[in-house]
Amino acid sequence: MNTKTSGAIPNGTATLTYGNKRVELPAFKATEGPDVLDIRKLYGDADVFTYDPGFTSTASCESNITYIDGDLGVLLYRGYPIDQLAQHSHFLEVCYLLLNGELPAPKEMESFESTITYHTMVHEQITQLFRAFRRDAHPMAVMVGVVGALSAFYHDSTDITDQRQRKIASHRMIAKMPTIAAMAYKYSLGQPFVYPLNHLGYTENFMRMCFAVPCEEYKVNPVLAKALDTIFILHADHEQNASTSTVRLAGSSGANPFACIAAGIACLWGPAHGGANEAALKMLQEIGTVDRVPEYVKKAKDKSDPFRLMGFGHRVYKNYDPRAKVMRDQTYAVLDELGKHDDPLLKTALELERIALQDDYFIEKKLYPNIDFYSGITLKALGFPTDMFTALFALARTVGWVAQWQEMIEDPQQKIGRPRQIYTGPHRRDYIAAEKRG
Ligand code: CMC
Repeated sequence: MNTKTSGAIPNGTATLTYGNKRVELPAFKATEGPDVLDIRKLYGDADVFTYDPGFTSTASCESNITYIDGDLGVLLYRGYPIDQLAQHSHFLEVCYLLLNGELPAPKEMESFESTITYHTMVHEQITQLFRAFRRDAHPMAVMVGVVGALSAFYHDSTDITDQRQRKIASHRMIAKMPTIAAMAYKYSLGQPFVYPLNHLGYTENFMRMCFAVPCEEYKVNPVLAKALDTIFILHADHEQNASTSTVRLAGSSGANPFACIAAGIACLWGPAHGGANEAALKMLQEIGTVDRVPEYVKKAKDKSDPFRLMGFGHRVYKNYDPRAKVMRDQTYAVLDELGKHDDPLLKTALELERIALQDDYFIEKKLYPNIDFYSGITLKALGFPTDMFTALFALARTVGWVAQWQEMIEDPQQKIGRPRQIYTGPHRRDYIAAEKRG
């Protein structure tokens, strides 16, 4: 796999003066976006750390996979704009692109597709793991557990120093994630697991594993399959977001690859990250009708109220999220296909978007709809319950996690991640015997 970083180009230096120390910081040129100042020697030369909670100004790695221009609302996978990929490509081709750096030739695609298909089944003992969970367990809780448990099954693909084993582990994760997500769903319903059918495409197969039952034939609707495949493309990677950084950090210690992906799933679960699609839909349901929208916009602006408009705002996008635009078109396509043009959730969403985009608070803070604003409505219309939404995000993001994990392992600059801190606790003090306290 061609995932090696090529090395950023030197671009002068910056000088930092602190106390009586003067430090030269080398600068490096990015292909797109801001250059970086290399502060690796800062502590050694000036005896200070930098302080950047939430990494708002810190590049944690060099990467050549995904680029986001948050001000312009641009997202590129290996240089290709997300809207072009959503329109012309399909999820497995995007997986190949993210993993290998280039779009596949037809023969390469054929071979990749058959490799992924070959790995779709999970070890039969894994089915027993599901049964250890309560039926009402959140699918993400099940996913964290089961994906982590893959590390106990596939020992022939866990030597991370072996390029071939890394490749097999990557293919296994991409192939098995739909099977595991569908099993989590089936288990929650109390329905039998549906095994993969390899003559179906990746997304069609997943839909069948979710919605088929042994007593009835299930026919995949191509419009709905296209919408879900697009959702997978839109979620496939998003540079150094929280879950991807978690995967890289876990992997930086040389941990088992399946366990690293489980760590990414755990991080994705939070409502400020992957859980936002579920939260956005719940919010639209709570608002309920168009006339209540102004009341909720007011709540979102009230600093004494913790309520935020879910599906609005983004750490990086200070413009319309380019994924949200594609998502909105797919929402219309699905609701049209299902004859649900008058969906009250869509009406509420459109009104909320209209009012918020005219409001000074949202304009000044550059808060625009993000992908999660529309994905929830679409996933609900496709038949998924809200607590499956983040599991679907995890399924799609797996390829991004895997590509970034591989890139990290192959990066000659790679070191175990070990952030520093500014310590503000007590000075050194002596232990006080229990009877002398209080
Ligand atoms: N509703 C109301 N106010 C908001 C919102 C919102 N959704 N988002 C940000 N703000 C305000 C926030 O109160 C703050 O105001 P002030 O400067 O007066 O204190 C300002 O905007 C900046 O917000 P922040 O929390 O400092 O920005 P951040 O970059 O740390 O947070 C975010 C980004 C996505 C966590 C946040 O916008 C948010 O909580 N949005 C709702 C949750 C959501 O939709 N998340 C999905 C993100 S997209 C999926 C993904 O890529 O994972």
